[in-house]
Amino acid sequence: MRLLRHITSINDLTDREVEDVFALASQYLHRLGDKDIPYRIAKSTKIGQGRLLATLFYEPSTRTRLSFESAMLRLGGKTISSADPNASSAAKGESLADSVRMLSNYADAVIVRHKRDGAARLAAEYAHVPVINGGDGAHEHPTQTLGDLFTLRRESASLKNLNVAVAGDLKHGRTIHSLVYALARFGSRIVLMPAPGMGLPDHVHWRLKHEFPNTIIGSADEDTPIDVLYVTRFQAERTSNEVSSYPRIDLKFLGSKKFSRARVMHPLPRVNELDIDVDRDRRALYFQQAAYAVPVRMALLGTVLGLAESKFARYADGFRKAKNSLYTPPANTDVICANSNCIVHDEIDGKYCGNKFYAIPANPPRLRCFYCETDIADVRADAGAHAKPARRRVTAP
Ligand code: NCD
Repeated sequence: MRLLRHITSINDLTDREVEDVFALASQYLHRLGDKDIPYRIAKSTKIGQGRLLATLFYEPSTRTRLSFESAMLRLGGKTISSADPNASSAAKGESLADSVRMLSNYADAVIVRHKRDGAARLAAEYAHVPVINGGDGAHEHPTQTLGDLFTLRRESASLKNLNVAVAGDLKHGRTIHSLVYALARFGSRIVLMPAPGMGLPDHVHWRLKHEFPNTIIGSADEDTPIDVLYVTRFQAERTSNEVSSYPRIDLKFLGSKKFSRARVMHPLPRVNELDIDVDRDRRALYFQQAAYAVPVRMALLGTVLGLAESKFARYADGFRKAKNSLYTPPANTDVICANSNCIVHDEIDGKYCGNKFYAIPANPPRLRCFYCETDIADVRADAGAHAKPARRRVTAP
């Protein structure tokens, strides 16, 4: 049987595996780094010779696609790329599942970026080579988080007890969702600074509160020193709502006492939320952060492809055994994912999805969508809202 490993959420990786990726990324920086610029990879190895990486991007990208491609080329491998859905068979109505099934025979790993939440998980179900999530809708962007954490680890040896403020569109920002889970796991505290109406999605907030009870410290007063301010742009492409007021980070804002030592991070691209005058400030970290994406993605690819000494555990379906059991509602109940941007609701790709949930033990029990991980918070109460009107009876898992 063919065993492999997919990465669709930051939670697919154990803490140990994250540490292994960082150790390898540090080795690459040490061996292949630029002697004048400590965060830049300047040389290549040959360990990836003969291997091919496919990047299958249905949404715009600069950093993620190019840093993955740079990483693969620096490993000595090669890349093939579909960067524009209008120029691929997607424009003819081809499904993601069919595209990935084919690409599995053209390349040794596939990076997927897609507008639908849960798309990477669907891609993984149809691939027989590793699938890595390069950002799926508003769900997650796990490899951005690996780069973010690695950047922080280069700055401060431990992530434990760091006060990290996350600002902007916490609702739609997939980088934020992966980041807050990872920060919580590694013992940081999270200060929420959402733009009005753009707080964390309920299910993300619930998971943080239940799995890591003391992580969210709400708003910070002047005396709470912030170690990191993580700024994000308004994700205009994910909502039709207008933005009324959006936090804008400039030197004046950073002049307040609690930010005096705060390192400023941003997944980029920035639009107006981060003033370019901050670039010259000693606290700005975002261009180093973007540079570290290369050694980190080299390490991830090296590990997933089995090129490096450290290798991930592999599984028949590509994932560690889930903690929670899988639940498929009986055909006559019509319980469906409550997130309208979930891949299960896609006209084409939805046909390739199962109607599957993880049963989350809680009071009342929750159902977590297998693909996009949005919860139905109260199965009985919510069933009517999400079910098609005719049938309402729901059997709890
Ligand atoms: C992010 C993304 O695509 O989610 N970009 C990136 O990969 N660095 C952030 C964003 O687009 O705002």
